[in-house]
Amino acid sequence: MDCLKITQITDLHLGPDGNSILAGVNTLDSFKAVLQALDTQGRGDDLLLLSGDLSAKSTAETYILLNQLLLENDKQVIWLPGNHDDFDLMREGLINYPPSPVTEMGNWGILTLDSSQSGTPIGHISDEQLRQVKVGLEKLAGKAVLIAMHHSPVEVGCRWLDTQKIQNAGSLYDLLIEHGNVKAVLTGHVHQQFDGVWGELALHTAPSSCIQFKKNSDDFAVSGEPPGYRWLDLRADGVIVTGVEFIDGFNQSPDVQNTGY
Ligand SMILES: [Fe+2]
Repeated sequence: MDCLKITQITDLHLGPDGNSILAGVNTLDSFKAVLQALDTQGRGDDLLLLSGDLSAKSTAETYILLNQLLLENDKQVIWLPGNHDDFDLMREGLINYPPSPVTEMGNWGILTLDSSQSGTPIGHISDEQLRQVKVGLEKLAGKAVLIAMHHSPVEVGCRWLDTQKIQNAGSLYDLLIEHGNVKAVLTGHVHQQFDGVWGELALHTAPSSCIQFKKNSDDFAVSGEPPGYRWLDLRADGVIVTGVEFIDGFNQSPDVQNTGY
């Protein structure tokens, strides 16, 4: 069956040059390794969904560097901000990839949201975002819809990360349920795979393209897992087939003794 192919890459934590390290991993090297793996897996032409924390410290140069890299690799990209990002700098730096709150492709539509708020890693949905989602859902009536945002609205089993889930997700949920055509919600931020539900909606998170957080940990902890990504096949009948891959043979090991970032 014909399907739309998407790859979610999340929490890149890139720096303004090629030398940014997070818990022992060079984040530009690991992002490039993910792009290479997509080519190897026959997913090099997928639409990329970059689900936040594209930068480590919201520097303008980071987004310019990323824009260049994506362009050189001939990628189609949609993106959304995370708590480590600055939306205005993203828009200015990712000059070849304008913001795309609503994307229409065949029988499918993708809505991207900004769940970040400045000065805190805790997720939040503003009234303006709710309004945009309402407009987006009306535009996508009759299509199968995928929702993407940085923060999870549900707990994933890591106590320290679960305190950062979206605090006011109830009104968003009501809106998403109202139209009956939202097929799944994708998020980043938690640096690990999680497949669960948010009420009646399927919810999937993805591993980071650099380091992973240890599952089921009470406090900050890095796992030894390599960089990863989530792939999705959006079938014409509205069914999503999805899975997660980790990069084989990546030559940098995360520092599992790291105590914060
Ligand atoms: Fe984040």
